[in-house]
Amino acid sequence: MAFFTHHICRGLSSSAVRHVVIKNVTIIGGGQMGAGIAQVAASTGHAVTLVDTNEDILKKAVKGIEGNLKRVVKKKFADKPEAGEEFLQKAMQNVSISTDAGSVVQGTDLVVEAIVENLKVKQDLFGGLDKVAPAHTIFASNTSSLSITDIASSTSRLDRFGGLHFFNPVPVMRLVEVIATSSTSQETFDSLLNFSKMLGKTSVSCKDTPGFIVNRLLLPYILDAVRMYERGDGSKEDIDIAMKLGCGYPMGPFELSDYVGLDTMKFIMDGWSAANPDNPMFAQSEVLNKLVAEGKFGKKTGEGFYKYK
Ligand code: CAA
Repeated sequence: MAFFTHHICRGLSSSAVRHVVIKNVTIIGGGQMGAGIAQVAASTGHAVTLVDTNEDILKKAVKGIEGNLKRVVKKKFADKPEAGEEFLQKAMQNVSISTDAGSVVQGTDLVVEAIVENLKVKQDLFGGLDKVAPAHTIFASNTSSLSITDIASSTSRLDRFGGLHFFNPVPVMRLVEVIATSSTSQETFDSLLNFSKMLGKTSVSCKDTPGFIVNRLLLPYILDAVRMYERGDGSKEDIDIAMKLGCGYPMGPFELSDYVGLDTMKFIMDGWSAANPDNPMFAQSEVLNKLVAEGKFGKKTGEGFYKYK
């Protein structure tokens, strides 16, 4: 097709990879995940526009990105402060912000969505962007638990739609799950794999199944830990220590829950529990429901399973 001629690279490897070269990236959602993806994309030379409906969230995200990059520069360029300053300036120049997704997608190669874990909201967003984005633009969702096929169904670009699932904190976690639906084209899949590589990440792929690989295994484990605590089998402190020292995990399940966000965890579990009402693995947790109802979402609100200063 004509629109691919300027964008597709051929013969990059012996397996004849064809992919869209992604230079301009639009990231929708200025929360922890969106800001983290923006940071990594900007520091690997991509022109990034971070979009949110709330200007204050965007300003906070940019401040956070700058603070994180300064930390990176201090360590990586300890002996070369001038090179570090240049890297920081370049990366920050690569980041712009907008509250108008419709206008920025007109110049973008890839849209990565990292907004609330709600199917209808994601479908509405992508359905609207589909009408204004150029034909070559690839859409990707960073959903933690929803079906990419369901999200893509509100668009007419099923072949240019896939999943790109990052992990928190994005600048540190080395994995990206790259998901193709039954309609995703090989070019799109290869483009997403190549983009992940350009970000310095290692990618894995799996079928478009709820939670992909990591969350499908991680969330039931965390919920089992919460149930142990609810039954009084062990304190949350001891369960955390046990999993850190007994398994070498960097965080115990309660620390990790607070880090990911209890609201996010509840969104995921509610969806799975509605889809699988008879599966005890996805049963509701009273403690989790109570904390979320009280607005105690974890580290970001100052309290979750633990209190933060
Ligand atoms: N940006 C850049 N660098 C960061 C950073 C950020 N936001 N946060 C931490 N870092 C860096 C630090 O600078 C430090 O770098 P060096 O090793 O080079 O000094 C390194 O990461 C370690 O950070 P800290 O020393 O501050 O703290 P730590 O050693 O306690 O590590 C942690 C913090 C990386 C978060 C670690 O505890 C960890 O790996 N926890 C597990 C996280 C995890 O499992 N994430 C996946 C969650 S599941 C998910 O995200 C999927 C979903 O859909 C819900």
